[in-house]
Amino acid sequence: MPIQTRALVILGLLVTSGGAGCAERMHHHEAARPNPYVEADTRQAIPLPSSAGKEHRAVMLQHLESIQVIMNALVEEDYELAKGLTETHLGFFMHRQAMASQQPESFPPAYHDLAMAHHAAAEELARIIPTKDLKQILPQFNNVLKACVACHLEYKLRSS
Ligand code: HEC
Repeated sequence: MPIQTRALVILGLLVTSGGAGCAERMHHHEAARPNPYVEADTRQAIPLPSSAGKEHRAVMLQHLESIQVIMNALVEEDYELAKGLTETHLGFFMHRQAMASQQPESFPPAYHDLAMAHHAAAEELARIIPTKDLKQILPQFNNVLKACVACHLEYKLRSS
């Protein structure tokens, strides 16, 4: 059985068994809001040569990994490490690296603005981490993630 079918069967079992409140809620939520990456996709496609697309995806996967190692440092209460990782992996330093390796002229100005907003949110997170106060750190961590999602809702890649 193909993997998607198997996943649907498992989901169906979870929902009908009534033992999976979370799966059920997800199901209802999905039904209420069309998926913005599939049926309600209004994203602008950025045409990139396939090598640049590959490079872009690698940067994105590194972003996700950075978010995870930063979270890990916070969990372990290593605030100095968390701050350093945030600055070097997500801050303006990273932006300069990205500009040097990608072709900035391939991206629309509004994309660049979203990238800058994301780096600015990361710089703000780095600034707040030394407070060691999760009540201040978590909202700023959330702002960084919001900046990731904001761009994902606006743009997608198209290899040419
Ligand atoms: C300025 C825009 C922008 C920002 C900011 C951004 N991304 Fe992305 N990201 C993209 C685009 C465009 C894609 C490609 C989506 C597509 O083609 O469907 C992408 C794809 C991804 C992917 C999928 C990679 C793959 O293999 O296809 C991951 C994971 C990802 N981003 C993580 C993140 C994380 C984590 C952050 C924040 C720390 C982030 N991104 C911030 C634009 C952005």
